[in-house]
Amino acid sequence: MDKKQEAVKEGKMDKVINLCLRRGILFPSNEIYGSTSGFFDYGPVGVELKKNLEKSWWKYIVNDRENVVGIDGALINVSKVWKASGHVDSFNDPLVECKKCHLRFRADSLIEEELKISMDGVGVKQLQELIDKHKIKCPKCGGEFTEVQVFNLMFKTHVGAIEDEASLMYLRPETAQLIFTDFKRVLATSRKKLPFGIAQIGKAFRNEISPRNFVFRSREFNQMELEFFINPEKMNDVEIKKDDLNLESFFYTQEMQENNKNHERMNFEKALKEGIIGTKWHAYWMIEFFKWFKSIGIKTENMRFRQHVKTELSHYSSETWDLDYNYPWGWKEMEGIANRTDYDLKQHSKFSGVDLSFFDEKEKKKIVPFVIEPSTGVERTILTVLIDAYTERDDERIFLDLNPIIAPVKLAVLPLMPKEELEKKALEVFNGLKKEVVCDYDANGSIGKRYSRFDEIGTPFAITIDYQTIEDDTVTLRYRNDMNQERVKISDLKAKLSELM
Ligand code: GLY
Repeated sequence: MDKKQEAVKEGKMDKVINLCLRRGILFPSNEIYGSTSGFFDYGPVGVELKKNLEKSWWKYIVNDRENVVGIDGALINVSKVWKASGHVDSFNDPLVECKKCHLRFRADSLIEEELKISMDGVGVKQLQELIDKHKIKCPKCGGEFTEVQVFNLMFKTHVGAIEDEASLMYLRPETAQLIFTDFKRVLATSRKKLPFGIAQIGKAFRNEISPRNFVFRSREFNQMELEFFINPEKMNDVEIKKDDLNLESFFYTQEMQENNKNHERMNFEKALKEGIIGTKWHAYWMIEFFKWFKSIGIKTENMRFRQHVKTELSHYSSETWDLDYNYPWGWKEMEGIANRTDYDLKQHSKFSGVDLSFFDEKEKKKIVPFVIEPSTGVERTILTVLIDAYTERDDERIFLDLNPIIAPVKLAVLPLMPKEELEKKALEVFNGLKKEVVCDYDANGSIGKRYSRFDEIGTPFAITIDYQTIEDDTVTLRYRNDMNQERVKISDLKAKLSELM
């Protein structure tokens, strides 16, 4: 990317943040007291977008499948859960502190910014070597840094009146562990057989050293996670449709990264045949999520699959693919799809003393299933959707090219002018449609300003009630992207809108 393209992309991020603040989508929490970075609130428009996105995910993953069920687990968990999962010992980021001004930085992000190279998978020792070699100093005051240390990302709390080791609990840094700790009860109550999945949407908390890029990396966020349990001997036992195997994306393998090559475009059939993706179930879920991101409007040319290099794999994973997005600051993870093997169930069996295996009636044996885990951040997805949908036209018009499925408001109902007879008629139309489609009514300000507001929150359709409406019961239906308008009978609106959506 040349300097000019870079500037355009960087500008886009600022514009998206500005839009979020201007239109009440997402903004810093506790704003009136001076916010702490990494915490955000949703406004009236944002909360609708969030609900639509979660609903789309839940329908696609849980409601549309006979082999996936859901849970909603507690946010604060006993410390043994996180000892067993490995997070107490391994959920760390590299940290450096300025000796002069005492500002703390995440070492890998700092080096990425200074040297403009990816630090994915680079260990503590190498980070230290890079800081020494390039004499990297504090960007704020020019001071020297302490040695790179590791910093645990979990938030601690104490439950009950006494603060001691026994009352120590953690805010969950991922939703996944609740699925593993609930595995036995869900198995008993849902009567599912392998292969099957348990899904969850909910809050997670990480004490990030340097939250950045607006909501891309925050300290309190929402995850949408699926743990899909499979007999380890049947990791290739799944039928993938021909059309799905033919889907193409960019793949950036371990080998390509280690040899400084570019990512390559290929279809999933080739990626499987050549052993680039380790197992068929892993490929199945990569395809399912590629399709889901497409269904909510993310452009395929902005997505790629990047394999984690060996040094970067989480402590529980044997193979991980990130579904990256081409953000204004470069390709970064939008979602991770990991093979967690039987690591978590075995660890929890060991630490709790409860057998978390599955008894296979047919094979008459106990199985500890392997797990494929697609893990997505809600806020990260929202940011991605906004960046992908943000459109500026030559006439300086701004709109969000959102898919109607996730648009916070699907239809704006607008009297042309604030006149009593027009408002009365517009409210009549609004009341007739509100049960069919999520609409908003707005009678304040010029019609141009109202169109702009709805364009900027991605409302795909607007209807305007004017004096002709009073005479012949027709309205103008306006389309967001091309601003075309047509006259439609009020009695035809429901059918027309349902056809359009
Ligand atoms: N469960 C995987 C993650 O939170 O990254």
